[in-house]
This record gives sequence, structure tokens and C-alpha cells, in this order.
Amino acid sequence: MARQFDTFGPIYRERIGAQDTVNVYLPGDSARLFMVEGITPERMVVRPWLAYRHYRQRSRGVLLKSGEDWRQTRLALNHDIIAPKALPPLLPPLQSVCNEFVSRLHSISRPDIPLPDLSNELFKFALESICRVLYGERMGLLGDTVPADAERFIQAITEMFRTSVPMLFIPPELLRLLSVPLWKKHMNAWDDIFLHAEKHIKKVLSLRNAKDCEGKPPHLLENIVTRGRLNLEDITASATELMAGAVDTTSITIQWALWELAGKPELQELLRQEVQRAWQILHAGDAQGSPETLSKLLKDSPLVRMTIKETLRLHPVAVTLQRYLAHDVTIQGYTIPSGTLAQASLWTMGRHPDIFEDPEVFSPKRWLRDIHGEASPFSKAGSHKDEAERPDEGVANWSDGNEETMKSIGSTSLGPCNGAGVGNTFLALGFGFGPRQCLGRRIAESEMGLLLINILRNFRIRRFDDTQVDTHFELILLPSRPIQLVFEPIESENSNL
Ligand code: HEM
Repeated sequence: MARQFDTFGPIYRERIGAQDTVNVYLPGDSARLFMVEGITPERMVVRPWLAYRHYRQRSRGVLLKSGEDWRQTRLALNHDIIAPKALPPLLPPLQSVCNEFVSRLHSISRPDIPLPDLSNELFKFALESICRVLYGERMGLLGDTVPADAERFIQAITEMFRTSVPMLFIPPELLRLLSVPLWKKHMNAWDDIFLHAEKHIKKVLSLRNAKDCEGKPPHLLENIVTRGRLNLEDITASATELMAGAVDTTSITIQWALWELAGKPELQELLRQEVQRAWQILHAGDAQGSPETLSKLLKDSPLVRMTIKETLRLHPVAVTLQRYLAHDVTIQGYTIPSGTLAQASLWTMGRHPDIFEDPEVFSPKRWLRDIHGEASPFSKAGSHKDEAERPDEGVANWSDGNEETMKSIGSTSLGPCNGAGVGNTFLALGFGFGPRQCLGRRIAESEMGLLLINILRNFRIRRFDDTQVDTHFELILLPSRPIQLVFEPIESENSNL
């Protein structure tokens, strides 16, 4: 895509399979695109995923629903998952998983030897985290022996993403008719994902019916069922998709963040100092942390949040964001008719020298606002607002800022180039934008933030080798080779273990 932009300029049309797409990467152009996404935005359909639901007669969850059906489900789930009030009670369970992960790192890390299979360790961390908040269940994935079904679930998600790509533009009916092995593998992967998720959902619901959940930590499934806005089939479909969407995304982003920090010892030290300072608020005996102290811990660690943002700039999980336009729109002088599939390229934007100064340099501080209100010296895009002060960014004071943002875009003249006039919002689109943005965004940001805080307090991270790591596309973007890191324990009376 980056090559096409170099050849054709900031907007070009391309035919993918039977589909015409229009591609942009400039933040102002992405903003225009989101202005016409409508009230029930639609992404590009991943046909093999839909086909699986169709052939196995399973309901679609929030990820795959469309139109008013999607909107009703999403509104029901927003309340318990992404609304500001929903987050603090989820922080203690997330922190307890971080504690377990750090214990595991202590027991398996060896001096001067890279951690064996970091990727799988982080997959297990991410699955344990989402199960803890969704079901209030301890899965025991961070012990020495891992339940076989959990291993199978993790493998199934990777397989599901891997097998999706080659089938994206081939009619599933044909693949099924010809009994193509890739199609069978894809179906089996989804079968394993649903089987595992349904097992947990059934168990939690049966305990609930037996009123056997007293003393259990709060969990999302309980809240969603109690609210009574969705039927059981819808809840099961969405919970399964939440699980499937929560594992590779967060674990791969953390891997990249650790890789980048391992290559920058001075930055790592700066972060460690910030984290040690912020940790002081968790007094002795409160190592698990209450919702309030953990919210404050995250709020007082702005460099950690900027590290996550910077990681997603260079290593977005999704290569593009897509929308079928609900209205005509003019971008760069071209009128694009409603119904067109438009894509905003996160990869090209994040690495473009017209938008970010020294784009290849990992520099979380580029997201800091210049305190004098001028353009940040770290980035070319002006009008930066301190990330920590943004109403739609801070963990503790997050609110659904999209309406406000859209209002401000409406009254701003969008420049044809860079992010000037649209603030940071359209420079940091790693979780998407608008009512269809990532539903798990707040959970993911907190989970990754807490894990980085816990790791930085307890370990120095070093690269085992400095060979470049490329990016590989398997529907989501992955490191092209295993990332090898050495974790050196820090002897400190402050460490939480
Ligand atoms: C680093 C972590 C993550 C990244 C970068 C990420 C990124 C994304 C992106 C780019 C989208 C599409 C947004 C759009 O079209 O505007 C998305 C959608 C979604 N994500 Fe995430 N995600 C992450 C973690 C999670 C987690 C932890 C969960 C579950 C708890 C989750 C659940 C979902 C769901 C359900 C959707 C579909 C929402 C809808 O269609 O209404 N994601 N995510």
C-alpha cells in the first residue's frame, strides 16, 4: 500500500477481488471518511468468518453484526465494557493476572538466556486476562501445566487468523463445495474457539442459576446477563468474539512494546522511574490494588500510555480501518459515492515522514504536547493536546469523546496534509474510531498498561539479538520471527513479589 501511495499520491482507487476500494492515509482525509460513516458503520466483511456462522447456524456477535441489529447489541454492551464506570472494577482482576505473570517470569527467566517462547507466554497472559474479566474465572494458564483445551483455544485463534487471509476473496460456497483443506482448517479453528468459549459461558451461567457465585469477583458476563438487554444466544456469540478478539491483539502489541523498550535502555529507565513513583500510592498490603488506586496508578503513568500509543503507531494490529461510506464525500478533490469501501491505512500513516518526524524512531514523547501550545518538537503534526488531558484518552477520565470530536471536526477546516486541525485523534487510530471502534479498547489499554508497569518494576529487558524484526500479515500484523528477550530481575525492596 505504501508503494501505491508513493506512486499515486495521497488517494488511490484499487480493485480487490470483486470490490472497488478507495485508499487514503492522511489524518485529515481519514477524518473526512469517518464523518460519513453513518450511525451504523460497516467494516469490510471477512467472508470466511460470516460463512462459518452461516453453515454452523451460529449467531453473529457484535463484531460481525450489521445495521440496527449491531447498534442495539453494541449499545447494550458499551454500558458494561467501554463506559467509563465499567473499567475501575475490572482493574483488580487484571492486576492479579499481572502479578501471576511476573511470578512466572521470575520462575522461568534465566540470566543471559532469552525467555523461551515469549509469544506463547503473552498469549496465555492475554487469555487469562480476558477470562478473568469476562467470567471471573481463574484459568490457571500461568502455571507450569496449562489445561489442554486452553492451549487448543490459543492455537485455534492463530489458525483462524492465518487461514482467513488466503480465502478473503474466494467465495466460501466454492471452498466448501470443493472441500478445500484450508476451508476445513478454518472451520475446525472456529469450532474449537466456540467450543471453548461456550464451555465457560455455560459453567458461569449454571453457577449463577445455582446462586453459587457469592463472594466471586464481579465479571462482565454477570453484568450483561443481569442487565437483560440481550438474549442468551447474542451474549454467547459476542462473548466468544470478545475472547477471540482479545488474545492476539494485546499479546502482540505488548511483544512489540517490549521489543522497542529493550532496544532503548535509557527510555526504559525513564519509564521505570515514572512507574516506581506512581507505584508509591499502592501502599503495603494493597499489592492487588483497589479500583481507585489502580486507576490512579495508570493515570499517573502517562509515559506508559504514550508507549502503548507509540507502539501502535509503528506496529498497528490492523493494517487499515475500513468503512462503507454512508454518504458521498469529497476527498482530495475526488467525489467518492456512498456505498464505496474506503480504507484508511494505519501502516502508511504511522510511518510517513510527511506526518511524523523521524517516523522510524520509537519515541513515545512525540505524543507530549509542547507546554507552550506550539507544535510538538517531536512530531510534524501540530495542535497536539497532552494525551493525559484528553477527555477520550485518560483511563480514569475517559468518556465517549467521539461526538465531541466529530463536532470539533465539523467546525474545523481540514488541511489537505498532515494532522493539523484534527489534533491527535486521527494520528492515533490503532483502536479505530467512532461508534464502531474497538469495544475492548479500555480493557486492552489498561491490561497492557498494568503489565508494562509490573514488568518494568521487576525486570530490565534486553534484546538477545539485534537483528531486524519485519512485519508479517495474517489478517492482523505479526512479528516475522520470534522476538527474543532477556528478562533480568531487579533486586528491589519495592518489587511487588
Ligand atoms: C492492542 C489491543 C487491540 C487493538 C489494537 C484492537 C484494535 C481493534 C480495531 C482496529 C478494531 C476495528 C475498529 C474500527 O473499525 O473502527 C477493533 C474492533 C473490535 N475489538 Fe479490538 N483491539 C484490541 C484489543 C481488543 C480486546 C482486548 C477486545 C475484547 C475485550 C477487543 C474486542 C473488539 C471487538 C468486539 C471489536 C468489534 C467492535 C464492533 O464491531 O462494534 N479488542 N479492535
